[in-house]
Amino acid sequence: MTDWISRWESNRIGWHAEQVNRHLNKYLDRFELSFGESVFVPLCGKTNDMQYLLEKNIKVIGVEMSNIAIEQFFSENNLDYLVSNLGQFVLYEGDGIKLYCGDFFDLDSRYLENVKAIYDRASLIALDEGLRQKYAKHLSDIIEFDARILLLTLNYPQHQRSGPPFAVSKEEVKQLFNGSFDIQELHCIEDIENEPMFQNLGVDFVEKAVYLLQKVRM
Ligand SMILES: C[S@@+](CC[C@H](N)C(=O)[O-])C[C@H]1O[C@@H](n2cnc3c(N)ncnc32)[C@H](O)[C@@H]1O
Repeated sequence: MTDWISRWESNRIGWHAEQVNRHLNKYLDRFELSFGESVFVPLCGKTNDMQYLLEKNIKVIGVEMSNIAIEQFFSENNLDYLVSNLGQFVLYEGDGIKLYCGDFFDLDSRYLENVKAIYDRASLIALDEGLRQKYAKHLSDIIEFDARILLLTLNYPQHQRSGPPFAVSKEEVKQLFNGSFDIQELHCIEDIENEPMFQNLGVDFVEKAVYLLQKVRM
C-alpha cells in the first residue's frame, strides 16, 4: 500500500494515460445511464477518463489513497474543489465529482449514492492475487443490484514478469465474479506488438480484454 504512496511522491506513474481510454469511449453507452446517475471509479488515480465522464454530464465518484493524485486531477483539469473530512476519508468535492481520499476497502455503499456503473481500468490488475479476491468481493458488496462494471484487464505469462500490472485471465475474471454477476466479454486481442516494455522483458504475449459485468440477484 505504501508503495503506491511513494510512487505518487516520486512521480513514478507510468500507468497514467493522457488520452481518454478508447474502450470507455466505445462502450460508454453500455452503462445505459440515465440523467443524474453516477459512475464509480475505484482506485482512480488522476485518470483523465473522469474528466471525460464529467464533460459528458455524468457524475463521478472515485476513491484513491493518494492525495497527490487527487489534487493533481483537480489542478490539471482546472477544476475548483472543496475539502472536508468524512469518516475515514478526506472528501474532495468539485462540480459533479466526489473523490474520496483513503482506502477502497473502507468504503461502503453509503458513499456510492446513485452509482449505476463502475469503471475499472488498471484497478483490479493493480492488485496482487490475494487483494484481487478481496477487491472483487468488496466491490460486489458495496454496489447495487443491476449495476454494470466495465472491466479492462491484461493477461500475460505472469512468470515472465512481475506486476503491477498483474496478469488476470478470463478464467480468473469468471472465478472472481461468477455467481454474483453476468459476465460478457466485449473485446479481447493479443497486443504484444504495442507493448515494448513487455517485449524487452521477453514476455511471449499480452492479451487485452474488456468485460461488461452486471450484478444480478442470486
Ligand atoms: C495503477 S493505478 C491506476 C489508476 C487509474 N485507475 C488509472 O487508470 O489511471 C492504481 C491506483 O490505485 C491506488 N490504490 C491502490 N490501492 C488502493 C487502495 N486500497 N485504496 C485506494 N487507492 C488505492 C494507487 O494509489 C494508484 O493511484
